[in-house]
Amino acid sequence: MRQTNDDPHAPRHGGGRVREALRWGIVSTANIGRAAVIPAIHRSASGVVLAVASREYDRAREFAEANAIPNAHGSYEALLEDECIDAVYIPLPNSMHAEWTIRFAEAGKHVLCEKPLGVTAAECNAMAAAADAAGVVCMEAFMYRFHPRIDRVLDLIDEGAIGALRSIYSAFTFKLTNADNVRWLPEMGGGSLMDVGCYCVNVSRTIARREPVEVQAVATWTGLGLDEQMAGMLRFENGVVAQFDCSLSMERRECFHAAGTDGHLEVANAFLPGTGDVTIEEFHGRGEATSHHVAGTDEYQMMVEHFAACVTSGTAPRYPLSEAAANMRVIEALYRSAREGGGPVSVGDA
Ligand SMILES: NC(=O)c1ccc[n+]([C@@H]2O[C@H](COP(=O)([O-])OP(=O)(O)OC[C@H]3O[C@@H](n4cnc5c(N)ncnc54)[C@H](OP(=O)(O)O)[C@@H]3O)[C@@H](O)[C@H]2O)c1
Repeated sequence: MRQTNDDPHAPRHGGGRVREALRWGIVSTANIGRAAVIPAIHRSASGVVLAVASREYDRAREFAEANAIPNAHGSYEALLEDECIDAVYIPLPNSMHAEWTIRFAEAGKHVLCEKPLGVTAAECNAMAAAADAAGVVCMEAFMYRFHPRIDRVLDLIDEGAIGALRSIYSAFTFKLTNADNVRWLPEMGGGSLMDVGCYCVNVSRTIARREPVEVQAVATWTGLGLDEQMAGMLRFENGVVAQFDCSLSMERRECFHAAGTDGHLEVANAFLPGTGDVTIEEFHGRGEATSHHVAGTDEYQMMVEHFAACVTSGTAPRYPLSEAAANMRVIEALYRSAREGGGPVSVGDA
C-alpha cells in the first residue's frame, strides 16, 4: 500500500497524527454501495473512497458527484489499472462476483465482495486461491456478523441461557416489486436462496457452530425456473435442526430463534437492525422473559473497519473464504434437494 502521510484524504487521529487510510474503489453504481457501504467507508476512520467504476462513464461521474467520490471510471477495467486504489468493494450481480474478484485480486487489489461470495463453492474456492496467490485480503460482505448482537447470542448460548441448543429457525423475506431486477434472473445468480436465504443458512451454521450433514428444501419456482420462495431444513450431526424461510414475494420479515432444552432466544430485525440499540429476547416457560440490550452500531462500518484493519495489519479476516465456500456447499445441496422433490441431500454429495 502506498504511504499516504501527505495524502489529503488520510484521516487524522488523536494528537494530529496522520495514519495511512485504505484507498477504496467501488465496482459499479449498485444501490447497496450508495445506500450503506460507501457511507460506512466515509464515516470510517480507516478508509477513503477515491474512485467508482461503472460500465457507463456518465453514470460513474454522476454517482461520484452524488456520493462525494473524487474519481470516476467508465469501465471496471480502468479501475483494475488505477494505481491509486488499494482495495475494491464489489457489489455486482452475484454471477459476476467470481470473475471480478479474481481479476482485481490478480491486479493486486484487496477485495471486499458482496454476498453470496460466488454462486458455487467451487467459485468461492477459486476466488480464495486467487487472493492467496496474489497475497491480498479478500472477504465476503456478510455485514450482519459484525454487529455485536450475534456474538452476544453465541455467548448466551455458551453460558447455558437456553440449556442444550436443539433447534434454530430463521427467516428473511421481502417483496421484490421491480420485475427488471437481476434477482429474478437465473443467469445472474438470482433467486430467494441466493439473495436472502443465504443469510438464513449463514446464521444457522453460525449458531450451530458446525456444518450441517444433510439438508432438505421445497421451493416455489418462477417461469424461468428460479426459486421465488424456499423453505429449507439443515440437519446437524449433533441432533440440532435448523429450519428457514426465504422469499422474494412475501411481506418483509427477518428474524432468528435459537431454542434449547431450557428456553429460547428470539432476535428481530436480525440482519438489518439499523444503527439504534437492539435487543435479544430470552424466554422460559410460559411467561418469563428477559430483554438483553445491545448498544446500536453500524454493522457496515464495523465490517469495513475490520477489513481495513486486516489489510493494514496483515492479519487474516475473522471470516475466511473457506467459510463462504462452506455456506455455498449448503446452498448447493438445498437447491439440489428442492429440484429433486424435497428429499434429503447430503451436504458432502452436493
Ligand atoms: N450486504 C447487504 O446488505 C446487501 C444488500 C443488497 C444487496 N447486496 C448484494 O450486493 C450486490 C448488488 O446488489 P444491488 O441490489 O445493490 O445491485 P444493483 O443496484 O442492481 O446494482 C448492481 C450493479 O451491477 C452493475 N452491473 C454490471 N453488469 C450488470 C448487469 N448485467 N445487470 C445489472 N447490473 C449490472 C451495475 O452497475 P454499473 O451499471 O454502474 O456498471 C449495477 O448498478 C448483490 O450481490 C447483492 O446480493 C448486499
